[in-house]
Amino acid sequence: MNPVKLTENVYWVGAVDWDVRDFHGYSTNRGTTYNAFLIMDEKITLIDTVKKSLKGDMLARIREIVDPEKIDYIVVNHVEMDHSGSLPDMVDLIKPEKIICSKMGEKAIIQHFHQKDWPYQIAVPGEDVCLGKKTLAFLETRMLHWPDSMFTYLVEDQILFSSDAFGEHLGTSERFDDEVDQAVLLEELTKYYANILTLYSPLVKKLIAKIREMDLQIKMIAPDHGVIWRTNPGMALDAYDGWSQGKSDGKALVIYDTMWHSTEEMAKRVGAGLQKEGISYQLLNLRYNHRSDVMRDVLNASAIVLGCPTLNNGLLPRMAGFLMYMRGLRPLNKVGAAFGSFGWSGESVKLLNTAMTEMKFDIVDDGLKVKYVPEDADYVQCVELGQKVGQAIKAKQAE
Ligand code: FEO
Repeated sequence: MNPVKLTENVYWVGAVDWDVRDFHGYSTNRGTTYNAFLIMDEKITLIDTVKKSLKGDMLARIREIVDPEKIDYIVVNHVEMDHSGSLPDMVDLIKPEKIICSKMGEKAIIQHFHQKDWPYQIAVPGEDVCLGKKTLAFLETRMLHWPDSMFTYLVEDQILFSSDAFGEHLGTSERFDDEVDQAVLLEELTKYYANILTLYSPLVKKLIAKIREMDLQIKMIAPDHGVIWRTNPGMALDAYDGWSQGKSDGKALVIYDTMWHSTEEMAKRVGAGLQKEGISYQLLNLRYNHRSDVMRDVLNASAIVLGCPTLNNGLLPRMAGFLMYMRGLRPLNKVGAAFGSFGWSGESVKLLNTAMTEMKFDIVDDGLKVKYVPEDADYVQCVELGQKVGQAIKAKQAE
């Protein structure tokens, strides 16, 4: 098990989870990594740990460099179990002099592992910790991704250990941004932000502004998932800056589910209307597209058009589940519209519009309902709905 050197006396000692395919409801088709880092100095310091089941991989990497019992400090940037699952075993083994974490981190560690007597030291922004030749500084980053989250900055090496932020669920043998396919990297960076951080975009916006205001010199960003940004950390920072401000790409998504193909046929005509307006679009049938992949595309899209027939006075279950997921993440700055077929009661379009209104989408129309099976006149209205959405996108872009 090889550790990987980042800079002199700083190593990646984490683990690759090749097999994980579901991360609390997010499909992780390429696996992931749990990154942990070892700083060799007068005070040997481990930054974060890994999921409990992969503790052996981390320990094997640490042992290539040093006897783990010689580690002095453990920094816990974030308490979610993918990073802290092996913390109790590591504390038993190492008996660290300090466990450095945020104030909320101390509370969360105690609430997870019920250990009040561990040697906690609260990390305070502005109060650096000297390791010998190297120094740790701290940034409070509440809710990115949990209330306990913080960043640790290694001053002399200009490495930002950013916990969940700037990460990807991407399991690879490569450790650095310049070693992987750039299209895959951007896709997974986008999917990660969309599914983990969209709700916290206002906080991300403030954080990026703060990092820029501090003129923090960043040679590398070392997140807890995916690759280490050594060549192009600006790509991750710029992407987060744009997403946190709700920047979009001018495209539309027609996201739908269908019972007997009526709503599907309507979706195709809505797409035709978008095309008439010169708008690039995608049809995403929820039967075939995982909600977390759909959310990845939602992050960049300018318009979301939802289609669903009525079932039992409500929505088809896949659309209901997707709506609940999307409402939790609250994407910013979208144009919205709804359509769907029905048999007798026909509540679905109203339900879709209500949900989008709650998410503060700009709804362009009351929505389009068609009884049982659409005919030519209905299809004309579907095309017109697509055109209205396209015109709203163009108007928004012109603002
Ligand atoms: Fe990677 Fe919020 O844990």
